[in-house]
Amino acid sequence: MANGKAALYIEFADDFLKQLGYTEHGPRHVKIVASSAYKILKKLGFDEKEACLAGLAGLLHDTGNLLGRNEHQRTGALLAKEIMEELGYPLRDIVTVMTAIMVHDDSEGVIPHPVAGALIIADKADVHRSRVRKVNDIKGDIHDRVNYAATESDLSVDSESRLIKLNLVIDTRISHVIDYFEIFLTRMKGCREAASRLEAEFQLFINGTRMA
Ligand SMILES: [Fe+2]
Ligand SMILES: [Fe+2]
Repeated sequence: MANGKAALYIEFADDFLKQLGYTEHGPRHVKIVASSAYKILKKLGFDEKEACLAGLAGLLHDTGNLLGRNEHQRTGALLAKEIMEELGYPLRDIVTVMTAIMVHDDSEGVIPHPVAGALIIADKADVHRSRVRKVNDIKGDIHDRVNYAATESDLSVDSESRLIKLNLVIDTRISHVIDYFEIFLTRMKGCREAASRLEAEFQLFINGTRMA
């Protein structure tokens, strides 16, 4: 974790979302997003510094939920500023992470830089059964159903072909693929736009079949 304050913010943010009935957005989610965002930029040949900033953006991107789900990308950017200032980061790095966090939920059509592109893909790609908290009550919530049905999730990046692939194994007894599309159509569009900002291509495979 970036520092003790970040860990505390994430704990309270996740607890708030838990009480709202959302899937897990805590330490597990932010660590996966951080490591995927770092990996995406490293494998695509971006420099170590940018990859590290993407990792930090991944760790801090959902802290804004501490102050309410709505606009959490903006409050999160401001909380990241406070944390990074305390850690002594240069202003340019702070603003890079802030602007990545600002667009992670809705880019409004602009992906300002590669750090933002990597964060968007890493965040949208975290679909997995382990994020579901109400495992005995998944029927009524499509998000819970789709996440619970995802028994395997693998994000791979091929340096040569610049191909970013999300491979999901979905248990169609729990959630039909059409459920997945209802939820993730916009997300996958965002991933494709983000990949093109990285001069790469994004592909989604469900149960071995290419979907997008
Ligand atoms: Fe978020
Ligand atoms: Fe997230």
